[in-house]
Formats: sequence, structure tokens, C-alpha cells
Amino acid sequence: MRIPFVAGNWKMNTTVTEAEQLIFEMLEKLDRIEGVEKVLCPPFVSLVAVNMMLRGSSIKLGAQNMYFETAGAYTGEISPLMLRELCEFVILGHSERRWYFGETDEIVNKKVKVALTNKLKPILCVGERLAENEAGKTEEVVNRQVTAALNGAEPVSNLVVAYEPVWAIGTGKAASGEQAAATIQFIRDVLAKLWNKSIAQNLRILYGGSVTRANIAEFISHPEIDGALVGGASLKAEEFASIVEQTAEIKGRIK
Ligand code: PGA
Repeated sequence: MRIPFVAGNWKMNTTVTEAEQLIFEMLEKLDRIEGVEKVLCPPFVSLVAVNMMLRGSSIKLGAQNMYFETAGAYTGEISPLMLRELCEFVILGHSERRWYFGETDEIVNKKVKVALTNKLKPILCVGERLAENEAGKTEEVVNRQVTAALNGAEPVSNLVVAYEPVWAIGTGKAASGEQAAATIQFIRDVLAKLWNKSIAQNLRILYGGSVTRANIAEFISHPEIDGALVGGASLKAEEFASIVEQTAEIKGRIK
């Protein structure tokens, strides 16, 4: 049985003061929703403050990125050892990291392995770009990204995968529920071949890309889609709470 999962990726938004304010607005609303694993991923500089505010609540914390070494002369980088005192999850391989900061499949693979060895749970993002989608290469791309990211990693159950088509991120043009469900089913098959069927059956696979309170139902009403990775809409307390509430309600019904 896969527990539904909704994560909010705040990206490079909110100062520490604004992050505290947003948590203040969200905390009670989110805390009382049951049956969904709820994760917030604020910027690094707010992790300490947010960690303190979330203590004793049912909301978990994640980071948005991480370096693949644990310590040393890597000016400006953040290591898994620093993160694991503060959070349970770390987003890895987000398309903004891949395309704006040159993260290759090889780098993502190093990050995934070092996160797992250091007891951080990766939220591994994969997804095709518009031209690849239009050329019918979606499966080829996600197959390559998933296989490369997990190369040499022992099969584990504490990995979450997010299918995020690049053309749907921050564009207001979400994939359709059917498109997302089909690719997610494909990713699960890839995981089954790579690791094994029972692990693949237990891993959560999310959809991400322009998820809002108005379209979340379309995604999570598919049994293959275990939840969402939400960007822009996770910066609004009411809207994000509504996304989590609908997930709890719909997944509770189709169980
Ligand atoms: P978006 O971002 O919801 O703003 O499209 C999703 C993501 O990048 O995870």
C-alpha cells in the first residue's frame, strides 16, 4: 500500500521571514490532514527556522538540492551531513538544476547514491523537454534518466520519483491526467526491471508541473499517480492545503 505523497517545492522564493510567515499560515491546515505524507522544501537558509516550527507536527521537511560530497573544500555547497540533521527528504535532479545549472545524469546519480548512504530520502525528478515530447521521445528520455540516476544504487524503498515534464513546469500547461498516468506506469515498469517488481510496486511516483487546486483531482484520481510535486501553488497556504486535502479525500475513496 503506497501512502499518497504531496511535496511543496518553494524554489528560490521566500526570505527567512517570509518562510516563517508561510509556515505560520499553513501549519494548522496541513497538520490536521491525515493519510497523506506532506513535505515542504523551502530554501536552504530557512531550513533551520522551518525545522523548529514543524517540530511535533505531521509535516516533514525536504531540501531542494545537495552536493555529492559529504565535506571539504567545496565553497558554497551543502552536504548530506548538514541536511540530514534538518530534513528527511532532498529533491534531486530537478529540471531547473539540470537545465540552468548543467547537472548531468552522472551528477544526479552521484547525488542519489550519497543521499541514500547518508539516510536522506531522494525525491528524484525526471521528465522530457518539449521538443523531446513532440518527437515522441518521452519514454526514451525518462528511461535514460531513471536508469542513469539509479546506476549502482542498491534497491531501496525510501526513494520517491517525480515525473515532471519540463514543458509543464511553471508554464500553466499541465500534462493531462492520462498522459501523466501512462508515463508514470512506464517509469514503474523501468523500476521493476532495474530493481524488482515488488520494490517498484511500493515506490511512490508523483506528477509535477503546473499542479493547482483546480487540476490536482485529475492526476490523483489515477491509481498509478501517488501524489504531486507542487511548485508555484505551494507558495499559497490556502491553495496548497486544498491540494493536500483533495489528495487525502480522493485517495481515501479509491483505496
Ligand atoms: P510548478 O513547478 O508547479 O510551478 O509548475 C513544479 C516543480 O518544478 O516541481
